[in-house]
Amino acid sequence: MRELTVSHDCAAFEVPAILDAHGKLTPDCARQARTRIDTHGLVILTGLLSASEADAGLALIHETIDDPDRVRGAFASETDNRYLRRDFCALPSTPPVTAFAATLAQRLEAVLGEYCGRSRPLLEVTTLTSYRGSSHQYVHRDPIGVISLLVAVEDVSPAQGGTVFVPGTHLYGGSESRQGGQAHALTELFRTRCNYRILRHNLAKLWRMRKSADAPLAPGEFRDRVFSTKWDQHQPNLLRFLLGKNAQFSLRTLGPRTLWRLYRQRAALDAHFRLVQTAPRKGSVILYRSDLLHAGPDNRSPQPRRVFSMSIARDLVEPKFWSDGYSPHPTLVEEPLSLGDLLDHALPAPSGATDRRRIA
Ligand SMILES: [Fe+2]
Repeated sequence: MRELTVSHDCAAFEVPAILDAHGKLTPDCARQARTRIDTHGLVILTGLLSASEADAGLALIHETIDDPDRVRGAFASETDNRYLRRDFCALPSTPPVTAFAATLAQRLEAVLGEYCGRSRPLLEVTTLTSYRGSSHQYVHRDPIGVISLLVAVEDVSPAQGGTVFVPGTHLYGGSESRQGGQAHALTELFRTRCNYRILRHNLAKLWRMRKSADAPLAPGEFRDRVFSTKWDQHQPNLLRFLLGKNAQFSLRTLGPRTLWRLYRQRAALDAHFRLVQTAPRKGSVILYRSDLLHAGPDNRSPQPRRVFSMSIARDLVEPKFWSDGYSPHPTLVEEPLSLGDLLDHALPAPSGATDRRRIA
């Protein structure tokens, strides 16, 4: 199999954000955004936040990640978190954090409201920071029934690891009927092919890091990322891969029948699917369905990648899956917030057009 190939052409998923006098997306802009989500599973709203609003979001992130008592996330890759290759943590429900989340919800009401009822809970508000030396996550789906937002509070370059998506792989009634009724089977094959290449990429990278001055390995890090028996779904852990204990990708996924189908269907996979890497500019916001295939790539640059993230349920979510897939801060667990709470949250009146935003 060849190396992982990624497209950087995101034009089909982008919609320039246009706000009305109340600071909300105009009806036409919201309609375009909903169409992108329905068609591709994601939309990138460019320029949704002004530069100063994005700066305010970045300040909230710094405030959290500079706190030694921050609440680290129990998702993504725990091993990357432990070795500070990533710093995924929950933001507390302070008044500025809630106001920032409410600004996003109110601005996006005409999009979010299409998928999430007012009573649906805010599942988490987090910050996703990755540093050089992190592992490329396996391509995966998050727990179903959720809309997630990724907010670029500063420019994210491809080398910093903008999220990759496989557009059009979201799940809905009848979605398997596409591609001659083979959509789901082909999607799983494509995912397997991507994850095989990601395993090789991660192993090769860790091997190089043994002698690298750029991202030197910490004592025990190579062992923990390659030979550990500890649960972690996004490391190239050979033991768990061979024993079939990694739910995202393991030897169990690579039986002779699958290998034969990968060979036979290689042209169909190339024709129907592509891995697209986003590189959102400061102020852009990505909305995606949690059942869309995606992955957080490794950061290959010396610049940390910082993203603000929040997720809202669009359906019932079993509490077990809530804690498995999402990391609410204890303050959010103590005082839950719904989409309706965010929409009703009192905010200062919009201050008018600034830099990248356009007002209708
Ligand atoms: Fe994910």
